[in-house]
Amino acid sequence: MQPTAAFAMTGLALLLSACGSRAEAPVEQIVVRQPGAVAASAPVGAPDAGDPVAAGKVAFAACAACHSAAPGAASGIGPNLHGVVGRAAGSAPGFSYSPAISKSGITWTERELDTFLANPAAKVPGTSMAAGQVTDAPRRAAIIAYLASLKD
Ligand code: HEC
Repeated sequence: MQPTAAFAMTGLALLLSACGSRAEAPVEQIVVRQPGAVAASAPVGAPDAGDPVAAGKVAFAACAACHSAAPGAASGIGPNLHGVVGRAAGSAPGFSYSPAISKSGITWTERELDTFLANPAAKVPGTSMAAGQVTDAPRRAAIIAYLASLKD
């Protein structure tokens, strides 16, 4: 590379980074003011201690492949989870549960959800929920906070 070209590119890089820092400042301010934006800017699944519900909504992406959570939405591979906190296990209308969940006698409190998500097959041996284990406790807490926020 010619020295002149190298100099020009360094100048361009400096110019770009200067533009970048000017453009970022107001974005960061917006992010701080809007909890939803904080979660959206975090890596998928990263817990955000400042707003667990928003962080849980992001982390729920790992569940959304199988679970809907909107009110009245059709169940997928897994049952609709709208309003799951406080309801009896195996009670989403129209979903064909495993006998293991149906006969578990569990009511999905936040504590029961925590042990279930930590290890579904250990909590309910024979469950057909084959994925979705969340080993990270703060991440589980965020997902559960999000689920608890889904009320009619
Ligand atoms: C690969 C698909 C899949 C993924 C991913 C998955 N689940 Fe499930 N889930 C299921 C299935 C299938 C069932 C029904 C289990 C049964 O009948 O034994 C279920 C059941 C549940 C139940 C019990 C619901 C009820 O009505 O009793 C909860 C709670 C739950 N899942 C939460 C989650 C969460 C939270 C995540 C993400 C961290 C997740 N699941 C990820 C497939 C999945």
